[in-house]
Amino acid sequence: MVGSIRIQEVEKKFVNGSGENVQALFDVSLDIKPGSFVSVIGPSGCGKSTLLRLISGLSQPDKGHIFLDNMQITAPGADRGFMFQEHNLFPWLTIYDNIAFGLRARKLYKENKEKVTGILHLVGLDGFESYYPHQLSGGMCQRASLARALVGNPKVLLLDEPLGALDAFTRMNIQDEIQRIWKEEHMTMVMVTHDVDEAVYLSDTIVVMTARPGRIVKLVHVDLPRPRDRSAENFFRYSSEVLRLLHYGGTITEPEFYL
Ligand SMILES: Nc1ncnc2c1ncn2[C@@H]1O[C@H](COP(=O)(O)OP(=O)(O)OP(=O)(O)O)[C@@H](O)[C@H]1O
Ligand SMILES: [Mg+2]
Repeated sequence: MVGSIRIQEVEKKFVNGSGENVQALFDVSLDIKPGSFVSVIGPSGCGKSTLLRLISGLSQPDKGHIFLDNMQITAPGADRGFMFQEHNLFPWLTIYDNIAFGLRARKLYKENKEKVTGILHLVGLDGFESYYPHQLSGGMCQRASLARALVGNPKVLLLDEPLGALDAFTRMNIQDEIQRIWKEEHMTMVMVTHDVDEAVYLSDTIVVMTARPGRIVKLVHVDLPRPRDRSAENFFRYSSEVLRLLHYGGTITEPEFYL
């Protein structure tokens, strides 16, 4: 199986507006197994998006190395799909053309026409090919962005708070869709989220980070069968552990089995 990611002692600094160094990531090491679902959670500004951008190859670490299937990542590549927080569909292109855009740019469209139709079906947007983004709901636009990230058949899908702007019900529906695609396509998914339940619902491993400088506090391995029951006591055990690691556990009653 392909899609293993190895992050080795990575550091990343930025210079802020006042000319001071900001250490965004410090000594981050992480092994992500091929085909696994990993969520990254932590306070705002702790370097989650920075980490995703480093994996995507859009930026480079100041120290350390990142490998995809034992090859060092030095630039963006079609083997990594990126779904951004805001759907960044081109408003002047139809949904079909938005999804086909990357293939056309890489001159791979002709031999992959059927893939575009297949992906539209996979995300439940059949019949909406000729619509423009403004004619779709927020959730449908998110699904179109997901389709666009998937169409190049990436080994790894990077999701940066992909569902942050959606209402709770649409969000749960798209979580199920993401999970189904993850299972069917056997790809590695790395998702940044602020939603603890979303992380527990979807992940094999939750990477809990702390701010300034961004470091990994703990890896929480979620050992629950899928599909997961959001109201089960076991589910609550994991979400409460993550909340406690994030220092939001104060108002949560300790479940008996956890003691
Ligand atoms: N291009 C940049 N130039 C300067 N500073 C940056 C740049 N990108 C990120 N930073 C800084 O690095 C730190 C981490 O930013 P990052 O966007 O990775 O945080 P985050 O965990 O994704 O936060 P959020 O949850 O709010 O999206 C922040 O202090 C941010 O200001
Ligand atoms: Mg971010």
